[in-house]
Amino acid sequence: MSEPGQVVSSERVGAIAVITVDSPPVNALSHAVRAGIKARLDAALAAPEAAAIVLICAGRTFIAGADITEFGKPLKEPGLTAVIEAIENSPKPVIAAIHGTALGGGLELALACHYRVAAADARLGLPEVKLGILPGAGGTQRLPRVVGVPLALDMITGGEPIGASRAHETGLVDEIAAGELRAAAVAFAQKALRDGLPLKRIRDMNDKLAVAEPDFFRNYRSALARRKRGVEAPQACVDAVEAAATLPFEQGLLRERELFVKLLGGAQSKAQRYVFFAEREANKIPDVPASTPVKAIRTAAVIGAGTMGGGIAMNFANVGIPVTLIEANAAALERGLGVVRKNYEISAGRGGMAKEDVDKRTALITGSVSYDDIADADIVIEAVFEDMALKKEVFATLDRVAKPDAILATNTSTLDVNAIAGATRRPESVIGLHFFSPANVMRLLEIVRGGATSKSVIASSMALAKTIRKVPVLVGVCDGFVGNRMLAQRGREAERLLIQGALPHQVDKVLTDFGFPMGPFAMSDLAGIDVGWRVRQARGTKAPVADALYEAGRLGQKTGAGYYHYEPGSRAPLPDPEVERLVVGVSKALGVERRPIAEAEMLERLVYPMINEGAKILDEGIALRPGDIDVIWIYGYGWPVYRGGPMHYADGVGLEKIADRLADFADRFKEPALAPAPLLRRLAESGRGFADGETPAKAAS
Ligand code: CAA
Ligand code: NAI
Repeated sequence: MSEPGQVVSSERVGAIAVITVDSPPVNALSHAVRAGIKARLDAALAAPEAAAIVLICAGRTFIAGADITEFGKPLKEPGLTAVIEAIENSPKPVIAAIHGTALGGGLELALACHYRVAAADARLGLPEVKLGILPGAGGTQRLPRVVGVPLALDMITGGEPIGASRAHETGLVDEIAAGELRAAAVAFAQKALRDGLPLKRIRDMNDKLAVAEPDFFRNYRSALARRKRGVEAPQACVDAVEAAATLPFEQGLLRERELFVKLLGGAQSKAQRYVFFAEREANKIPDVPASTPVKAIRTAAVIGAGTMGGGIAMNFANVGIPVTLIEANAAALERGLGVVRKNYEISAGRGGMAKEDVDKRTALITGSVSYDDIADADIVIEAVFEDMALKKEVFATLDRVAKPDAILATNTSTLDVNAIAGATRRPESVIGLHFFSPANVMRLLEIVRGGATSKSVIASSMALAKTIRKVPVLVGVCDGFVGNRMLAQRGREAERLLIQGALPHQVDKVLTDFGFPMGPFAMSDLAGIDVGWRVRQARGTKAPVADALYEAGRLGQKTGAGYYHYEPGSRAPLPDPEVERLVVGVSKALGVERRPIAEAEMLERLVYPMINEGAKILDEGIALRPGDIDVIWIYGYGWPVYRGGPMHYADGVGLEKIADRLADFADRFKEPALAPAPLLRRLAESGRGFADGETPAKAAS
C-alpha cells in the first residue's frame, strides 16, 4: 500500500506551491492520494512563502476518479469531501492543471479549485453513471453552476467527457495551456496573484441554474426513461441536478449524498463496477505476459466485401490505418465499396462524423480483385462465405501471398479455426477474429486462439482490438465459440416455448423487460430467418416453427414478414395473427397441448440454459473466466450491463436454484442438454458461485 508522502509531493516555484500527484496508473483518489493532497495543501497554507497553489498530476492523466477498488470498504479519513472543502475554502488561490482525463472525483476536485488550466487534448467528465452511481462529491451541484443545467445533465446522465476546447467555451476550463502545462499553470497562478483575481468558488455561482421551461426536468426524465430503460442511476442523476437548481447549495449536497449512498449499495451499481473490472481483466492472458512482443499494424487487408468484410474494413479506416479490400469479382467489389461509402454518408448525415471525414476514410479503403495486392499487409482478415472448402482455399492463397510475419485472421462464426490454419504452412500466424454485426458498430471482438496460434499473434490481436476501439475477449476453438454457443441454447428453448403455448411477442417481451434491446424473435427477423434455416440444413437439425416461417416465405424484415409483420418502410415489429395461426398449427401437428406460460417461467427457461452452457464453456477451458463470458454477452448481445452478464446474474440468483430448475426442465422436456453441467452442480452443491473460483484457467490454450 502506498504512503501519502510517496504519491503526493510538493515543491515551490517562487511564490507558488506545486503539489504533484504521482500514483500510477491513473492517479485514482486512493486513501494515500487523498491524505497526501490534504497534507501538502495544509503545509502550503501554513507556509508564508507560498501565496498560491497549483495541483497537477504526473504520468498519463490527471486524477481519473475515486479509487473504485475502495468502494464498499470502510472509508478511511480524509474522505474526498474533506479534501474538496479544504481546497475550496483555501484563502490562497488553488489552480488545477489538467492533462489526460479529469474524471469523476478527479473533476469534482478540480471543480473545487478556484481556477482550471488544461492541456489542449485534455478531456473532462463525470462518468459515474457508467458505474451505476452518480458523482458523490459535489459534482452534480457544482457542474451545473459552471456549464449550465442542460449540458451538466447531458454530461452526468450520459457519462461522456467533453474536450478541453468545449470545456473552455463553457467556462469549465479558464485557460488552455499554450505550451507546457505545468509552466502555464504556474504562470496563471502568478497572474492571479499579480492581478488580484478573486477566489472563485463555484458553490457561490448561481446565475446559470435557471432552466428555460417549467417542465424541463419532467421532460428530461421521460426522454431519459425511454432511452435508458430499467437503469436506476440516470434518473437519480436528474434528481441530484434538479436539487442543484432548486435548493440551496448545502441542501443540494445532502440530497446528492443521499442519492449516491442509495445507488452505491444497490445491485445495479455492484454489477456495473464488476463489469468495469471484468472488461479490464479480460485483457490479461495468464500465459501471454504483458512483455510479449506486439506487432505494429500499419496496413491491413480484408478478404470479402460482404456484410462483415465492409464493416471490418471501416474499423481500420476509422483509425487511419489503410486497408485493402479484396473481392472475388469487380461487381461484388463495387457493391461492397458502395455500401461502405453509404454507411459513412448516413453517419455524416446524422452528425456522427464530419463530411470531409467521409472522403478521408473511404480514401483509406482500396478495393482490388487481385490477392497480390495484400502482399504488404501486416494483418489479413478473411470474411468470405461460411464454407470450409472456400476458407481453406483462401488461406492456402494467403499463405502464398502474404508476407512472412503477417497475421492471418478468419472471421468465421462457426468453423474450426484449427482446420483453417491447417491449410497454411504457418498455423502459428492464424487466429480467429470474430467480429459482430454490424462490424463497424458492435464493440465485441472474440479472439479465437487456435491450437498453434503463437503468443505474439495473440498479444498483437489483443492490442489491435484496442487500437480499433473494440473490447477483446480471448476464447478457444469450439462450435459457436462462447457467444453463439450460448445463444443457440436460448434459441432452442425460445422455439420450445412457442410450441408449448407462447407467442413470439410474449417471449420477446420477457427479454426486453429484462433489459435486452430486443428479443430472440425480433432479432431473427432482423438477421433473416433464412440464415438460421441454412445453418440447420447444413447440420441436419430442425426448428419446426422457424422452418414453417421459412417455407411460408416469411424471411423477416427484408420480406416485411417473419415472426412479426412490418409495415412498408418500418422496422417496428407488429404481432401478426397469421403467425399465431402458424404457431398453433405447429403445436397441433406435434400433438402438443398449448398452455399459458408465466413470464417468470419463460425467463428461467431462456436464461438458465445459457448459464448452464457457460458453465460447460468454463469447464472445457473455452473461456478463461466467468467475467470474460459476461463481457461477451454485454458487448456482443446486449445483455443489460446493470445485471452484470449471465454468470454474475447467476451468482445473484443462486446456483443451487438454477441447478434445481434445470434438472426439472431436463426431466419434463426430455432434453439432455438442459441437465445441470458438472461445474454448475459442483458449485451449487458446495454453496459457491462462479465468482468464487474453480475456473480451470487452462482456458483457451
Ligand atoms: N479506480 C481504480 N482503478 C482504476 C480506475 C479507478 N477509478 N480507473 C482505472 N483504473 C485501473 C484499471 O483497472 C486498470 O488497471 P489494470 O492495469 O490493473 O487493469 C488501469 O487503471 C488502467 O485503466 P485502463 O486500462 O482503463 O486504461 P485506459 O488508458 O484505457 O483508460 C481511463 C484510462 C480513461 C482513466 C479509464 O481507466 C477509466 O475510464 N477509468 C474509470 C474512470 C471513472 O469511472 N472514474 C469515476 C470513478 S467514480 C467516482 O469518482 C465517484 C465519486 O464521485 C467520488
Ligand atoms: P456475405 O455473403 O455478406 O459476404 C461474403 C463475401 O465474400 C461476398 O461479398 C463474396 O463475394 C465474397 N467472396 C466469396 N468468395 C471470395 C473469394 N474467394 N475472395 C474474395 N471474396 C470472396 O457474408 P458475411 O455475412 O459477410 O459473412 C462473412 C463471414 O463472416 C462468414 O464466415 C460468416 O460466418 C462470418 N460472420 C458473419 C456474421 C453476420 O452476422 N453476417 C457475424 C460474424 C461472422
